Amino acid sequence: MKKKLNTHLIVWGAALALIALVAVGCSAAATPAPTTTAPTAPPAPPATTAPELQGDMIRGGLLYDAWWEAIGAEAPTADQPLWKTQTTNTRTGPDTWRCKECHGWDYKGVDGAYGGGSHKTGFAGIVAAQAKPATEVLAILKGSTNPDHDFSTVLDEQDLIDLALFVVGGQMDTASWINADKSTTGDAAAGKTKFGEVCQYCHGPEGNAINFDSIEEPEFLGLVAGDNPWEFFHKVRFGQPGWPMPSGIANEWTDDDVANVLAYTQTLTTEPAVSGGGLLYDAWWHVIGAEAPATDQPLWKTQTTNTRTGADTWRCKECHGWDYKGVDGAYGGGSHQTGFPGIRDATSLSAEDLTAWLTGAKNPDHDFSQVLGEAYINALVTFVQQETYDSADYINADKTVNGDAARGKAKFDNTCAACHGTDGKKINFGDAAEPEYVGTVAADNPWEFFHKISFGHPGEPMPSGIALGYTLEDRANLAAYVQTLPTK
Ligand code: HEC
Ligand code: HEC
Ligand code: HEC
Ligand code: HEC
Repeated sequence: MKKKLNTHLIVWGAALALIALVAVGCSAAATPAPTTTAPTAPPAPPATTAPELQGDMIRGGLLYDAWWEAIGAEAPTADQPLWKTQTTNTRTGPDTWRCKECHGWDYKGVDGAYGGGSHKTGFAGIVAAQAKPATEVLAILKGSTNPDHDFSTVLDEQDLIDLALFVVGGQMDTASWINADKSTTGDAAAGKTKFGEVCQYCHGPEGNAINFDSIEEPEFLGLVAGDNPWEFFHKVRFGQPGWPMPSGIANEWTDDDVANVLAYTQTLTTEPAVSGGGLLYDAWWHVIGAEAPATDQPLWKTQTTNTRTGADTWRCKECHGWDYKGVDGAYGGGSHQTGFPGIRDATSLSAEDLTAWLTGAKNPDHDFSQVLGEAYINALVTFVQQETYDSADYINADKTVNGDAARGKAKFDNTCAACHGTDGKKINFGDAAEPEYVGTVAADNPWEFFHKISFGHPGEPMPSGIALGYTLEDRANLAAYVQTLPTK
């Protein structure tokens, strides 16, 4: 096993060196060279060898997973033309365009894990193609062997080169690390350390801070690791397309490291840490993938002070507040004022009573069962009973926060910065004219900030702070730090 590992290291090393060279080339082009010595051009290769392809094998691995996520394009809608040549895998649309859907997470196609089950297509793997020159693989990706295998219609030259480099240099044989019954040869104790150094900052110590599926069918790391260890290996080595999840290869993780983390992750819970009700409370239609309501919520007409209309009137938070205190809290004044009560007193109600409130039995105009199914109503009940909190000790009426910004910075840099940027400006929730960053939210509405970091953001894989193990004090520290970041 050690021997194999070393071979991989050498392959990775070579690829990394290549990437480093490309990176150096790029930065040298962008910034004036600091030294006076001009770089000497390397001797031209002998005319007989094919030109080397220059690119990023790790990016190729991300493209192999879901290329449109990696390049930020729309997902294709029609089936990939080759799809009709098989009948066993009944998926349609975008899935049929994923390299992995036809060739497998283990790269073995019909000879591997996709040799049976709902993903079976009968298509071959790409293991043998590792021996081909990258230029030949590039040609295959442009349809040289079969015009229906032409991906140049959707991907540009550099994308295809990166994919070719992945095919010849990025694959690995997981057979030494993953057993047929999906267990692994990895060492869970060693994996726990690595998990704590990297993964827990986004996925949480129990692996359940980011839900990959729905409230009805939650899917967390522990489930993926047990269910599809080959997918786990691929994602941990290359990262997650479209998200700044780190690549194990880029961080010089060995295959043993990945297997160790897999072993540890397989011991983690498959149960959620929070109900998901906090996301529904924020904007339920984004969570369940429904259309935003167009008319006003029936209770809306019983107030006149808040002049919003339509979807906003259906947000629990719009009537009951980000601080859960309704008229007795931050929404006791200003443009959001409705005069409606809070839900803090309802934490002591029974599940039956709360369900009765949410399904219209207490007040027919407070019926959410028409738009939210049972699982969602239950999540909201759990949220109201167990997951709301009183932030009064941490957030003052003038919006200042009693927190330690230095401690908050450590948390921000470890978790939030990957997505929001170290200055919090990488994601703009507003628009170019009126930008809104995490710093803006923390300054303008610390109660909203608290809620968002506790539960995440509806419809996005932002981790839940409660699942990350944040106490109220941790959340206050974060708010204090983020209030120091740019607001425009
Ligand atoms: C819809 C299914 C499908 C998808 C999606 C698909 N392929 Fe293929 N691929 C095939 C089939 C079938 C073949 C056999 C090729 C032929 O008919 O020429 C093949 C052949 C190959 C080969 C040559 C294998 C060999 O040993 O010669 C490589 C390499 C390859 N594909 C890579 C990719 C990559 C990279 C992607 C993603 C951009 C991809 N494929 C997407 C079905 C697919
Ligand atoms: C910077 C934050 C971040 C870090 C650090 C991180 N991930 Fe992720 N991970 C994500 C995001 C975001 C997703 C995508 C969720 C989605 O698309 O719904 C994801 C997805 C995944 C998936 C795919 C799940 C699926 O079925 O789609 C796996 C497996 C995974 N991560 C494992 C890990 C492991 C193991 C580590 C540590 C080596 C790690 N991640 C570190 C943010 C992170
Ligand atoms: C349009 C405004 C509005 C929206 C939206 C709204 N509520 Fe209410 N809610 C009220 C009003 C008004 C009452 C008190 C009604 C009464 O006394 O008949 C109430 C009562 C409640 C109560 C009982 C409070 C108590 O102390 O007895 C709970 C719990 C509750 N709402 C939760 C929610 C949840 C969860 C949502 C989101 C699914 C939500 N509400 C959406 C206006 C709203
Ligand atoms: C995996 C990526 C990711 C991580 C990690 C992450 N976020 Fe987010 N966050 C998002 C996305 C995506 C949005 C929604 C952006 C949008 O609506 O345009 C968001 C939205 C938010 C919002 C709400 C903005 C609004 O008003 O609509 C706040 C506040 C926020 N994040 C703070 C944080 C903080 C603090 C952390 C660290 C504890 C964090 N986020 C970690 C991706 C992430």
